[in-house]
Amino acid sequence: MCGIVGYVGKELAAPILIESLKRLEYRGYDSAGITVLNESLETYKTVGKIADLELILPERIIAYTGIGHTRWATHGKPETKNAHPHMSSGISLVHNGIIENYLQLKERLIECGYVFESDTDTEVIAHLLNNKMYKGAKKLDLLTAVRETISELEGSYAIAVLCSDEPGCLVFARKDSPLVIGIGDDGYYAASDVTAFLKYTRKVIYVDDHEVGAIRPGSIEIFDPRGNLLAKEMHTVEWDLEAAEKAGYEHFMLKEIHEQPASIQNTFAGKLLELEGTVKMDELYLSPEQIKHLRRATIIACGTSWNAGALGKYLFEKLAGVHTDIETASEFRYASPVLCGEELTIAITQSGETADTLAAVRSSRSYGCRNIAITNVVGSTITRESDSVIYTRAGPEIGVAATKTFTAQLIILYMLAIHMGRVRGVLSAGEAKSLIVNIKRIPGQIQKILNRKESIRECAEQFADKRDYFFIGRYLNFPIALEGALKLKEISYIHAEGYAAGELKHGPLALLTEDTPVVAIATRGHTYDKMLSNIKEVKARNATVIAVANEDDTEIEKYVDVVLRIPPSHEMTSPVLSSVVLQLLAYYTALAKGCSIDKPRNLAKSVTVE
Ligand code: F6R
Repeated sequence: MCGIVGYVGKELAAPILIESLKRLEYRGYDSAGITVLNESLETYKTVGKIADLELILPERIIAYTGIGHTRWATHGKPETKNAHPHMSSGISLVHNGIIENYLQLKERLIECGYVFESDTDTEVIAHLLNNKMYKGAKKLDLLTAVRETISELEGSYAIAVLCSDEPGCLVFARKDSPLVIGIGDDGYYAASDVTAFLKYTRKVIYVDDHEVGAIRPGSIEIFDPRGNLLAKEMHTVEWDLEAAEKAGYEHFMLKEIHEQPASIQNTFAGKLLELEGTVKMDELYLSPEQIKHLRRATIIACGTSWNAGALGKYLFEKLAGVHTDIETASEFRYASPVLCGEELTIAITQSGETADTLAAVRSSRSYGCRNIAITNVVGSTITRESDSVIYTRAGPEIGVAATKTFTAQLIILYMLAIHMGRVRGVLSAGEAKSLIVNIKRIPGQIQKILNRKESIRECAEQFADKRDYFFIGRYLNFPIALEGALKLKEISYIHAEGYAAGELKHGPLALLTEDTPVVAIATRGHTYDKMLSNIKEVKARNATVIAVANEDDTEIEKYVDVVLRIPPSHEMTSPVLSSVVLQLLAYYTALAKGCSIDKPRNLAKSVTVE
């Protein structure tokens, strides 16, 4: 996730910016840079680590104002030209967030004569600011120009800006990306999170959405969107550094579970065209003709990404009418797949580095297949070996157990299925609109689940001493049952199996006793009644049933022992919500057992060996 920092004060800015950027390293990044302002702007940036940035800095830079950035690539590869700060003569800017309408703005600015040096969405903000300040009827000051500029931006941003005409001044603004100001004895700090400046001060002011402000030596002003000066409250941060990195959460996994409303929003930002009933998939290098004539798609993945792919198969078949196979990468690479050229493979891998997935993709490409990669890491190996790359914009995931990358993968699969369904004429505009509306509701629905997570915690604690668990579901909920079981086993070390609910009677029923909790995903949909029958089957063996069900379902509690609720939702999108419930169930079970949640034994975040 990108991180921004800024400083205005009595100390030399460069060492403070570097130290602050180091404190943001835990968020993950691929490049970094700073700008300092004395009489003019001096910018230094590079791909790689902060240590690499330090190597290109002059020994002593005399400047008391500056901004800095760690970049996690979203638009444009990790290259020095794409690293922040971005400049537009006399202006330097760092940004965290995504500007959704950057292409329209870019076209307009190119017509005005601006030359773009990077592939980023951020550079448009710098040029737009320059345009406002210097090319309008009258020259604007930086604060006014920032206010006017952000009124044209769609998307999310936290920005910090310097202008060579206003030495000693740093202007900031935010919408849907975090920004906090530190008040020190020697000066003021700005950052994406408090860890950046915790070493210097614990006194903070939280900037809220749509606020704009300016820091000058000895003063700070923050304004509401109408330009009224605000009297903002100052808070004292009590966290130590480690707690602050986790934003106060006990584990990265819990933090990442809580980030899902935002990570999902980022993943679909700018892509869902509700009015038209279409999805914008500019990254997909497949012509409408190729999509129309697609005979088969093969999804290739491992682990959690495989579970996402298993749901993708149902979506592609239902919404786009494309016959879809789901393959385990480690098997596929040694099998004898029957593939002919011009077929489509879709590799799902959050890291983009999983050795088995890469090998399977290489093998499929040797048959002439075109590959689409769905990944979270810009510039990862899979992106260099695929014809099209679609990014999940979940931000770096530090907990080994995948959570927010899984739900972001699901969102991409919904969008891809809708896009293909529309192009192939399988899905009507009305059906697509209804799905789009329901996808847009997901972040708010997840937030509701998070707000009521205590009931999931109680349930987890009640059954944390069990040796075995079963997870069952039908249709779209079957892959979610597999994922629920995988999450539980990998972080709590409880043996768990995910099963298609209809398969229980073909063997596993023999294992059920009153000591075996069975998690039944029984959300509303066309398999609901069948799920109730399976639940009764399980209850007849005296097993405990924990149901995941909709809030408005009053029937289910008659048959089960515990009900974990999700908000009322569309059958097609409810699996995303159920998966969040199961992530929390696994998390609180592991917590109750005192397991090493962020780094489970024997597991690695990125499996780069066979
Ligand atoms: C489980 C988990 C793993 C990964 C698998 C594939 O929580 O994270 O099962 O899903 O190792 O990794 P990627 O998606 O990076 O290819």
